[in-house]
Amino acid sequence: MKKIDLFKKYMKQHEQLWSCPICQNSMTVRDNHVVCAENHSFDLAKKGYVNMMTQPVHTKYDKELFEARHCIIESGMYKPLHEKITELINANSTVVDLGCGEGSHLAHIREKADGEIIGVGLDIAKEGVMTAAKHHLDTIWCVGDLAQVPFKDSSFDVVLNILSPANYTEFKRLLTDQGIVIKVVPNSGYLKELREAFYEQDEYDNHDTKQRFQENMEKVQQERITYKFPMTADLLPSLIKMTPLTWNAKKQDDLDISEVTIDLDILIGER
Ligand SMILES: C[S@@+](CC[C@H](N)C(=O)[O-])C[C@H]1O[C@@H](n2cnc3c(N)ncnc32)[C@H](O)[C@@H]1O
Ligand SMILES: [Zn+2]
Repeated sequence: MKKIDLFKKYMKQHEQLWSCPICQNSMTVRDNHVVCAENHSFDLAKKGYVNMMTQPVHTKYDKELFEARHCIIESGMYKPLHEKITELINANSTVVDLGCGEGSHLAHIREKADGEIIGVGLDIAKEGVMTAAKHHLDTIWCVGDLAQVPFKDSSFDVVLNILSPANYTEFKRLLTDQGIVIKVVPNSGYLKELREAFYEQDEYDNHDTKQRFQENMEKVQQERITYKFPMTADLLPSLIKMTPLTWNAKKQDDLDISEVTIDLDILIGER
């Protein structure tokens, strides 16, 4: 089956999730479009995603950055994170990853789950969503704004939000009664070897981000995962390219990084 036909089939199976980003009506999948009762229509792209933005947006994240993130995530650098998140999610649930980037976190988490997770990935960067659709099938890949998500109220058991900005009003609107938000934020040691090499800069401080999560969500729990991941010479260029920071500016030839620290907080909260 062609990529667009597989995507269309998955979209059709889960069309009840959609809410028109212009008029908030229900939407149906017809031919190669998703369309509402007022005829607001969005094309399903041949490459297996749908762009629901009402205006084009340019971001600092480009194709190269997302391919680099893809390489790094596929290398297993975040495997303990994926395992931890899989433990937190019910095996059969509907999960939306808001700020999904190139989609590999969602794909790995679903792969590890025992049951069937219905997966939706949304990102404002078209290049990210295109990279996701290129590598992973059977997912609703959507270009959209997490501050104005084109899905109905109470449609998701889990909102994932990994190293991305948050919008708690939207997160709570999207969750079912028992639903949870899982937000991943960097802690002080995260990729410190890179920060040291490029900035000689101090530790990352996630206090304010955590505070906002606490203020907005109920029954908040927190888990921290910290480990070292070995860095090979062929992976290092991807590691440097995977962030929008100006790390590229400094000369990379004399970099001597044999491992990197992964230090992440996983915040879990109900609505
Ligand atoms: C650091 S990246 C993390 C991506 C992915 N979760 C990962 O860990 O590889 C942050 C992501 O947030 C996305 N983003 C930023 N603002 C957004 C918005 N308003 N709506 C949707 N996505 C947004 C960016 O496009 C980018 O892909
Ligand atoms: Zn509409």
